[in-house]
Amino acid sequence: MPLTAAELVKADQDHLIHPLHHPIDNAEPVIYVKGRGSIVTDIGGRDYIDGLSGLWNVNVGHGRTELADAAAAQIREIAYFSGYVGSSSVPAISLANRLIELAYDNMYGVFFTSGGAESNESAFKTARFYWKALGKPDKVKVIARQNAYHGVTLQAMSATGMAAYWKMFEPRVPGFVHIPTCYPYRQQGAKPGETAGQTAARLLEEAIVREGADTVAAFIAEPIHGGGGVLYPTDDYFPLVRAVCTKHDVLFIADEVITGFCRTGQWFALTHWNVKPDIMSFAKGVTSGYLPLGGIMVTKAIKDAMDNVKPEDRWMHAYTYSGHPTCCAVALKNLEIMERERLWENAAKMGTRLHDGLKAAFGGHPNAGDVRGGKGLLAAVELVEDKATKANFAGDRKIGPRVQAEMAKRGLMTRVRPASGAHPANGDQIFFAPPLVVTGEEIDRIVGTARDAVKAVLGT
Ligand SMILES: Cc1ncc(COP(=O)(O)O)c(C=O)c1O
Repeated sequence: MPLTAAELVKADQDHLIHPLHHPIDNAEPVIYVKGRGSIVTDIGGRDYIDGLSGLWNVNVGHGRTELADAAAAQIREIAYFSGYVGSSSVPAISLANRLIELAYDNMYGVFFTSGGAESNESAFKTARFYWKALGKPDKVKVIARQNAYHGVTLQAMSATGMAAYWKMFEPRVPGFVHIPTCYPYRQQGAKPGETAGQTAARLLEEAIVREGADTVAAFIAEPIHGGGGVLYPTDDYFPLVRAVCTKHDVLFIADEVITGFCRTGQWFALTHWNVKPDIMSFAKGVTSGYLPLGGIMVTKAIKDAMDNVKPEDRWMHAYTYSGHPTCCAVALKNLEIMERERLWENAAKMGTRLHDGLKAAFGGHPNAGDVRGGKGLLAAVELVEDKATKANFAGDRKIGPRVQAEMAKRGLMTRVRPASGAHPANGDQIFFAPPLVVTGEEIDRIVGTARDAVKAVLGT
């Protein structure tokens, strides 16, 4: 006999440990049973708009039977075999080839992982490997940014720039250095006349010089921050970052786990600024979350370093599921859907509608400190107690989580980041990243529901 809804909830609370686990947040778990397009349905039959594409990943929307068919067809042939060197699969080879066609034109090699944190782990190890192969074994440090989210395995967690993720797991891995990010609304360390991008890029250069360029392997950045606040950089930032990294022989790792695969209206987000990384991490949208998959892409110089070391110095890095044939087959079909439906176009068009809608709904609101968006379907509203001073609401008022609950009541599911202290720490942020198939009518409902939810909490 299948479990009843009430029995499922009880078994969940008793036995299932969730990401970011705490029972306080699991008193009334929503159990999702179905999804179609941008709409998901819970076990009680209630529909919600998926305001965050699952977890920023269901780019092609829910319920794509083509992806089920692609998985089933591959499983019928051969679901899995080792991808360790010397053995390979048609889906893994084909996907690597396709990704190189789609990505920045300097990308040349692809290594597959099962998700974003594994991708960043692979990126950090590859950066160290590269410098060792070039006879610079002391280049090991990674510079990352405050408010970054790079995953939560120990090394990825150490790159993540949010202390809440560290607290109960310290000490962090040595060699990770954090600098202020480009956060135009609350830029830290600015000199008179500088743009936020100039400040943040200067702080990067100062950090490299302070640490010693001969000890720094890489700088990692999300082109637009995801979980740290959907922070948009100024347009000058990434070109300056690229120049600083090149000047000091520091590899630039772009974490495109969220921003990749049409999310920002381009296949990959650094295209907005005409910048190319040395290593790119990806995950999420590569399969639209239908199966777990991630990876890194690297330049020819890095691939050459891997190919040219002595066998005993090989790139001794591996995962059982690297190049998983079924996951790669689903990814190939997912990319085909994106291309066939030109989803970057809908992402750009609906992203503009979302950003314009949020600006119209929140522009005059006394507590909407910042409304961010405009590059595809990636937007946020940051709430503050006092717009003039950017003072945040006290954490114990739980403004963000309460807005989230009010949105859920009204049929909109998304995530928030609560205020994490006094300015310049972030205020309560509400995130919007619906599937790239979202309709105009659904965008308007997202905006209207968010506005109603804020009114329910703040009274205005
Ligand atoms: C930018 C970024 N990098 C890395 C990760 C980690 O990915 P995963 O949860 O698949 O390990 C995430 C997850 O949200 C992310 O947003």
